[in-house]
Amino acid sequence: MKNRVAVLHGVNLDTLGRRDPEHYGTLTLNELEVQIKRFASDLGLETIFFQTNREGEFVEYLHRLNETADSALLNAGAWTHYSYAIRDALEITGAPAVEVHLSDVAARESWRHHSVFEGLVVGVVSGKGADGYREALEMLKAELEK
Ligand code: DQA
Repeated sequence: MKNRVAVLHGVNLDTLGRRDPEHYGTLTLNELEVQIKRFASDLGLETIFFQTNREGEFVEYLHRLNETADSALLNAGAWTHYSYAIRDALEITGAPAVEVHLSDVAARESWRHHSVFEGLVVGVVSGKGADGYREALEMLKAELEK
């Protein structure tokens, strides 16, 4: 069975733990990844983690995604709202993907309401903090079992 999930964090997510806790909680990225790994193993999924602040590196990681993973769970940070280069790269993978945001992007500034991944991802989870990643993993598992 396909069970490998690439968990990709984009720009500024490496500063979790220092960002506004009202939106992003208090976990560091490392602590969040430990939780995600635990959620995934409960579901029988394997995880591989990646974070970068460089858009080109994110794109290149997606170009190679199929070598190491069957699906993608992405929190692309602010790139979500404007990087059509990342959208195109995700489309090239052909892999099922779910978009996650720790904060409730729909309840924040209007520029955060648009996502370049609309119509491409199989699901979006927003505003549920770390638990949102569990929901996203459940969506991916259902997709991988189809
Ligand atoms: C974010 C929401 C984005 O609007 C923001 O730019 C981020 C994080 C979230 O997880 O809530 O960097 O993706």
